[in-house]
Amino acid sequence: MTFSRAIKIAPSILSADFANFGAECRAIEAQGADWVHVDVMDGHFVPNLTFGPATCAAIRPHIKGVMDVHLMIAPVDPFIEAYANAGADVISAHLESGPHIHRTLQAIRNTGKKAGLAINPGTGIDAVSHLLDLVDLICVMTVNPGFGGQKFIASTLDKIRALQAMIGDRPVHIEVDGGVTVETAPLVAAAGADVLVAGSAVFNGGSVDNPGVYGTNIARIRAAAEAA
Ligand code: DX5
Ligand code: ZN
Repeated sequence: MTFSRAIKIAPSILSADFANFGAECRAIEAQGADWVHVDVMDGHFVPNLTFGPATCAAIRPHIKGVMDVHLMIAPVDPFIEAYANAGADVISAHLESGPHIHRTLQAIRNTGKKAGLAINPGTGIDAVSHLLDLVDLICVMTVNPGFGGQKFIASTLDKIRALQAMIGDRPVHIEVDGGVTVETAPLVAAAGADVLVAGSAVFNGGSVDNPGVYGTNIARIRAAAEAA
């Protein structure tokens, strides 16, 4: 993973066919996805439940590029090693997931993986300033985590801009997650985001038997972001 601020589209498999993750991952990569975003939910930190490290390990061989694992779980520390062993390239934990996010980020880095810090829409960036040297990516949630297909929260744009200024020339990605569409992609890109997670906007209308729709959706989101 060489660092670049170029726009990267990261489809979230939360919107894929859960009975067919391997084929879905191959399809989105063949259709232009840069990263594959994997949403892990525990029914506790967020009001929804998805899957755990065994599923991540099972889909890993079907992903050639970056496997971006977003942990929406609490506690998170006891499970970091399992997701590292499952083959994640980036592991993101939530600032709100416990009292010791500094330790959590150190633990992720200690596995040799890239460390991501996710922040909910209601969380400010003051605390992030003390964590900048421990992170490779900051995931700004642009919806409340838990579900795909929610409406983009526009007040997050100011936060993305402030974060970009805070990051300066450090090699830290700004990822946005939630409600990213052809309409909102230019807004987040102009504000400073370089990794755009998109679930429903990539998967809706397509399937592994009709993957061209994924390609069209990815290309449209990318073009909208790059034009910003
Ligand atoms: C929400 C997840 C997102 C979600 C995005 O908790 O973290 O990755 O899948 O879905 P869309 O793009 O449909 O808002
Ligand atoms: Zn996510």
